[in-house]
Amino acid sequence: KGERGEGEGGRRKPHVLAFPFPFQGHINPLLQFSKRLVSKGLQVTFVIPFTDSNLDLDIDQAQRRLPPTLRVHTITINPDDELKSADDFFNHFEKVVSLKLKEFIHAQEALGNPVSCVVYDSIMPWALEVARDQGVVAASFFTQSNAVNAIYYRVHEGLLRVPVKQEELAVLGLRLGLPPLEISDLPSLVYDFHSYPSSLRHVISRFSNFKKADWVFDNTFDTLEEQVVSRMASQWPIKNIGPTIPSTYLDNNILKADQDYGLSLLKPQADTCSKWLDSKETGSVVYVSFGSLATMKEDQMEELAWGITMSNNHFLWVVRQEELNKLPINFIQDTADKGLVVTWCPQLQVLAHRAVGCFVTHCGWNSTLEALSLGVPMVAVPQWTDQTTNAKFVMDVWEVGIRVKVDTKGFFTRQEIDECIREVMDGERGLGIKKNSAKWKKLAMQAVDEGGSSDNNIQQFVEQLVLRH
Ligand code: UDX
Repeated sequence: KGERGEGEGGRRKPHVLAFPFPFQGHINPLLQFSKRLVSKGLQVTFVIPFTDSNLDLDIDQAQRRLPPTLRVHTITINPDDELKSADDFFNHFEKVVSLKLKEFIHAQEALGNPVSCVVYDSIMPWALEVARDQGVVAASFFTQSNAVNAIYYRVHEGLLRVPVKQEELAVLGLRLGLPPLEISDLPSLVYDFHSYPSSLRHVISRFSNFKKADWVFDNTFDTLEEQVVSRMASQWPIKNIGPTIPSTYLDNNILKADQDYGLSLLKPQADTCSKWLDSKETGSVVYVSFGSLATMKEDQMEELAWGITMSNNHFLWVVRQEELNKLPINFIQDTADKGLVVTWCPQLQVLAHRAVGCFVTHCGWNSTLEALSLGVPMVAVPQWTDQTTNAKFVMDVWEVGIRVKVDTKGFFTRQEIDECIREVMDGERGLGIKKNSAKWKKLAMQAVDEGGSSDNNIQQFVEQLVLRH
């Protein structure tokens, strides 16, 4: 009982098939959303399409840490079949994975545990057709901010044409409830569309059919994006259900919290980080991480390294294995009295630790939302995609951080990094930023608390599924 998704009296619970895109920044929010669904009485099968880049994932170990009604299943794509160009890869991925998804839905039916609803990452819009063909309802799950989605949506509709003109942007900004934007505040896939034409096509393709989905969710919360929420309400069906962060973290109940979201593609050096942080004073540590994908130019890595050390704080820096050789020679040994460099950490645990005083971040949407929801001030160093827009909001809308200035080629200096960290940690502006950070933390908590805006949206979804069941 329980394991097979049976509730009171042996009645089967509605069965959600959650279908993430296999990147860390996409798995985390959907897995956490799945945990919420399970806590509200549903059963979930979390089906990850495996590629060679995440073959290390230890499913059995992950499964032991998840509730029994949240089961993880993988769909494997033969690495030999992967193709080189982005377009080739996405086409191949869709072809192989959509077939396997269909087979999986059939198999569940045959096992007597039919799928009631597919919740798919919006980046795979074709999953909607697969679900519909099997007679199953579906929800599209977005993993970036409402503001970024609104910009991409306009590009998809042809209402924002690339290359973007400043005058058009000003008008558009007002219509979407955005703050005044420079072209370089747009997602880089939009302002630098020449460099990533297929990626832009791909990210906007999610709008091709999203209005046909039975539900559309986004990992953000209403008060955070009030202006965009009110301007877009009549134009799209998106409901906000975030932040998808375990409430134990939001409650500061770290002792009870999981080590991380629960499915880490890279191995976190959890004990090393927590022991090191425990030995540091409250608010004294600068945490630095650029997420799971961003790669940095070697000279920028060097500026960042010396900027962090110049600020003269203790620092915990995540440098992924493949980026380690870009650090200055002997950097780790030479700075060992001040800093700890790890290849991956349990980020939620780190951000929730009392010792962390500021987060130097690339402003991936998850990192941004996690820091904001846990009340950690930021130094924003956006690299690409939505990060540029997120950084704009961090500094000018939510006022929870400072964005580093870059030259015309997009490069920052060590002096700039040093100054921004000092300002956030100890400066006059830092005082206001800390106050705002505390305010947003409270609002994030309210949104996901029982009866909050995000909780209500999740609750309604669950009730609708139960009614159909
Ligand atoms: C990217 C995009 O930048 C993001 O905006 C998009 O929506 C998803 O793809 P990524 O660059 O990896 O993701 O950054 P981010 O969105 O911040 O996600 C990284 C996740 O990994 C976060 O949930 C973070 O908590 C986790 N993480 C990061 C760790 O658990 N340990 C680490 O050491 C670093």
